[in-house]
Order: sequence, then C-alpha cells, then structure tokens
Amino acid sequence: MQQMTLTRPDDWHLHVRTGDMLKTVINHTARQFARAIIMPNLQPPVTTVAQALNYQQEIRQATDNAYDFTPLMTLYLTNHTSIKEIKQAAASPFVHAFKLYPAGATTNSNQGVTNLEAMSPVFSAMQEHDIPLLIHGEVTDADIDIFDRERIFIEQKLYPLQQNFPGLRIVLEHVTTEEAVQFVQEMPDTIAATITPQHLMYNRNAILVGGIKPHYYCLPILKRERHRRSLIQAAISGNPKFFLGTDSAPHLSHLKENDCGCAGCYSAYAAIELYAEVFDNENALDKLEGFASFYGADFYKLPRNTAQITLEKTAWQVPAYYPVSTTNQLTPLKAGETLHWQLKG
Ligand code: NCD
Ligand code: ZN
Repeated sequence: MQQMTLTRPDDWHLHVRTGDMLKTVINHTARQFARAIIMPNLQPPVTTVAQALNYQQEIRQATDNAYDFTPLMTLYLTNHTSIKEIKQAAASPFVHAFKLYPAGATTNSNQGVTNLEAMSPVFSAMQEHDIPLLIHGEVTDADIDIFDRERIFIEQKLYPLQQNFPGLRIVLEHVTTEEAVQFVQEMPDTIAATITPQHLMYNRNAILVGGIKPHYYCLPILKRERHRRSLIQAAISGNPKFFLGTDSAPHLSHLKENDCGCAGCYSAYAAIELYAEVFDNENALDKLEGFASFYGADFYKLPRNTAQITLEKTAWQVPAYYPVSTTNQLTPLKAGETLHWQLKG
C-alpha cells in the first residue's frame, strides 16, 4: 500500500509543557490529531479545574488556528485532592480524567500520591461520578529493580484497586511489559491501556548497547524484546482495550544529555507516522485506524472523529533537532534517521 486514509486520530497521553517548549511542540500534535489528553505534571502541577482551564487557554493560544485541535485536560492527583474537586472535574466539559503518579515515579511526580490505600474516598468518588483514572503504573520502592517496577505495581497496587473499585474506569498508561498486556486483556472492560511508539519500536538495548543513549531513556524504561513483541501483538490485535497514547515528553536536549538525564522521548513531531511504520512492518495497517482513531474515544465516552487524514509511503529525514529558543533545542526520537510514512498536507 502506498497511501492510506484514516479517521483523524487522537493522542490519549501527551506532555506539552508551557512557554517556549509548548510553542515548539503543540503544532506538531495539532497537525495530526484532533484531540489529545494533556498530562498535568507541570511544575507546579495542574490540580484544580480552574488551573486546567488556564492551561487549556495557554495551549489554545499556542496552537495555530489552521488546525482543528482540542486539548482534553486532566488533573494531577495529590494526597490532598478533595471530593469537591472530583465532582467539579466530572461536571466540567473540559476535564476528562485524573492522573495518578505514585510519588517519585517519574518527571515532576514529587507531589504525587504517597499512599494509595489512603485514597479510597477519592477513588470511590471518581467511580461514582464516572471520571477515568489514568495511572503511571510503577512502584517506587528503592529496593525494587527498575525493570520490575511495572509488573510489581500491577500485582500489588493495580489488581487490588480494580477489585475494590470495579466500576472505576482505569487506563494503565504506557504499558511496557507482557504482564501488563495480559493483565489488561484479562480484566473487565473498565480497564484499558495506552501504548507508546518507543515501546513498540525499541527494546532496552537501544538505551545501553554501544554507549549510553539518553534519548531512548523514558519511564517506564524500555524492556526486553519479548515484552516489545507482546506490546506489538496487543496493538495490532484489534482489541479495543489498547489504544494510542504517545507519552511524547519533550525535554531540552542538554537536560537529557546530562549526568542525570531526564526521562522522556519526544515523538509528537511524527507520532502517527511512527505508529504507521510499526503497523506496516507487521502487515497490520488495517488495524491502525481502530487503535489510533476509535478505541480511545470509545473508552473516554467521546464521539469518534469524522475528519480524515492521509498518510503516504514516502521516505523523509527526521531533523537532528527542533529549536526551542535561541540557545536551546529539542532532540526528537529518531533524530537524523529516515521515516517511511508521511502525513499529507
Ligand atoms: C514523562 C515526562 O517527562 O513528563 N516522562 C517519561 O519518561 N515518560 C513523565 C511520564 O509520563 O512518566
Ligand atoms: Zn507521560
């Protein structure tokens, strides 16, 4: 196939930051996607409906008017999130979910939740008001190996949470393991998962073989090849529990190429093209539209998009970097490499 047309997709997990970085990245997303679930892990985090509305306004102002793009806002769950805020969020047409970061799990998670068990009243209210909970599913205990953190979170935290709140819609974000895929498959329809391009394209060798490659460092960290294969099978399976969420997470190049480099891959510049490449390699382009354009909207109880995009099979070269300001730049995933699908128009 040399060309394919599909319903305009949505990105169900996206970091766009603020200021110069927001201006650099947002139109990459708006060009391809109709909607994106915007992560609230700013510094300070977006914890209230009022803050989310301000942030949405900032995003809209940074977005080129030529694009029909809607940022779907989320709130950052803290130990202090009130039931009142849950009710307000659920009633707001702009806020679509709460995001749970276990404290210390990832970038800007220091104000995250320290004790899941203590959050029962909050989860109960979310279940009652039918607002989804998005989870960064990794335990944070210092003595647990970084490659095991997702699997152990599922066993120790997520499974009990699902049992206690069977009506709560949960997205296990950016799944990275075979165990996560199995868990999601076995659970009722209230549990779904997003899958990123980097976890479909790379295993952990990408970070470590031939030198330390900081641009492949994201959280949850890339895993072994057998896990990558399992994620690919889930993505191309046509199972509506698995849908597109890039977790595109821009950081300035010098903060990644650093003694203590930040976690996050920047994929939004070519997100749908990267997924198309993965699906094409598996001869599964016929499954891309469901994954990218239908299942996420259905899970969030939002209408499916009606506009379309067209992708062409043409080789093009990814820039080495995107300028963010006169002195700073952003290195994309696959910088300088060749991609094989390109969005038309
Ligand atoms: C994200 C970020 O930079 O905000 N980083 C990442 O590695 N994925 C945070 C997150 O989603 O974990
Ligand atoms: Zn993320």
